Amino acid sequence: MAINKQEHAQWSSSFGFVLAAVGSAVGLGNIWKFPYMVGESGGSAFVIAYLFCIALVGFPILVAEWLIGRRGQKNPVNTFTDVAASEGKSRSWGIVGATGILGGFLILSFYSVIGGWALNYITKVSTGSFSGQDGDAVGATFDAMLASASTLTIWHTVFMVITALIVGIGVTRGIETTAKILMPLLGIILFVIVGYNAMNAGFGEAVNYLFIPDLSKLTGDIMLAALGHAFFTLSIGMGIMVAYGSYLGREVNLLKTARMVIILDTVIALAAGLAIFPIIFNNGLDPASGPGLIFVSLPIAFGSMTGGIIIGTLFFLLITFAAVTSSISLLEPSVEFLEERTSMSRTMSTIVASTVIWLLGIAALLSFNLWADFTIMGNGIFDVLDKLTSKFLLPLTGLAAIVFFAWRMDQRSIQQELNLSGTAWTLWQIIAKFVAPIAVIVVFITTLMS
Ligand code: PHE
Repeated sequence: MAINKQEHAQWSSSFGFVLAAVGSAVGLGNIWKFPYMVGESGGSAFVIAYLFCIALVGFPILVAEWLIGRRGQKNPVNTFTDVAASEGKSRSWGIVGATGILGGFLILSFYSVIGGWALNYITKVSTGSFSGQDGDAVGATFDAMLASASTLTIWHTVFMVITALIVGIGVTRGIETTAKILMPLLGIILFVIVGYNAMNAGFGEAVNYLFIPDLSKLTGDIMLAALGHAFFTLSIGMGIMVAYGSYLGREVNLLKTARMVIILDTVIALAAGLAIFPIIFNNGLDPASGPGLIFVSLPIAFGSMTGGIIIGTLFFLLITFAAVTSSISLLEPSVEFLEERTSMSRTMSTIVASTVIWLLGIAALLSFNLWADFTIMGNGIFDVLDKLTSKFLLPLTGLAAIVFFAWRMDQRSIQQELNLSGTAWTLWQIIAKFVAPIAVIVVFITTLMS
């Protein structure tokens, strides 16, 4: 967040805050990552696991992070340290803020590579490259892009420069205001594609695939993937929401606001599923084809529908925009950290942080081509960065946050702040104290043992 701490201008309305939170939450995670993870995990089992994780783990942690942030009024490291101290607990809770900063740093490196793919596809779709093409041709275009280290580098660089410029100049709030118009537009375009699919073959199959529960497919690994994705998509487990919480006014109702952000985020992800899977089934593509899924499926529809060039161009433009509103929230904590802890100016801090992230991104993108044979425990660099953050860093940081919140902080004042009583408060306590932390721990242990 770009507002400086002295002004500490609180959000003028809870609406402004919701926009910023939704801007961070809705991004490539919903439209690029969610569908391909569903595809890799065989469909509805992942969707169900994900919905459970969002409701029982994501929701309480989101609320906890905001509440802690609102109490602390500082950057995540100092917030955790101060709030812990004021509760008479160890200052080492500040580490929770630090792992969060590291998480954002690592995520942005590969996030920017995918943001680059989306940028590249704006140019491809708008020039009619996909008109009348079938699945094979569209797949070949994607493979050619992946094979070209220079193409990937160029677009990754453009994406990173856009992110750095916005953060460096400090206009993140302006961007969030633009989100007011562009986010709903993204929702509309998604529903237009879903509507187009509903009139073509494969729609029923996709609905069954996504929503008819098939729990026989549910494994520990899928649970962990779903859990990690719940963190990723809500931008929790890394201090971003703690930082946002520090700008929240007392009057904002945390539970209601969290519910709204979560519903919006989930609706966009599910709509992306309905936009993509019918095309996959209709064209005999492999749902488990991995990170390229939206890039090998959607252009087929854009190439054949009326107005496909306009709709397709708008689509990739809008997901790039959604990706930028998330990437600025990923870069901001590192920049803020450097600015506060070193003598560097904001500009310099931005240049340093984004250059290191950019370099790491180059390593990630090379794993699709020149360095394809270089693996660490069977994973290329891109996958290592993705798995390390989603499956370890975010859930563990989130676990620490909820344990701190539910077990180390004074519960009476939390009860007042959340304005809960009777059964609702009991239910909240059961979820925050037991269900959420135990779910994270159990998923970890099962995976480690399998
Ligand atoms: N939530 C964003 C998305 O779904 C990604 C993100 C993760 C942003 C973590 C900030 C922090 O695309």
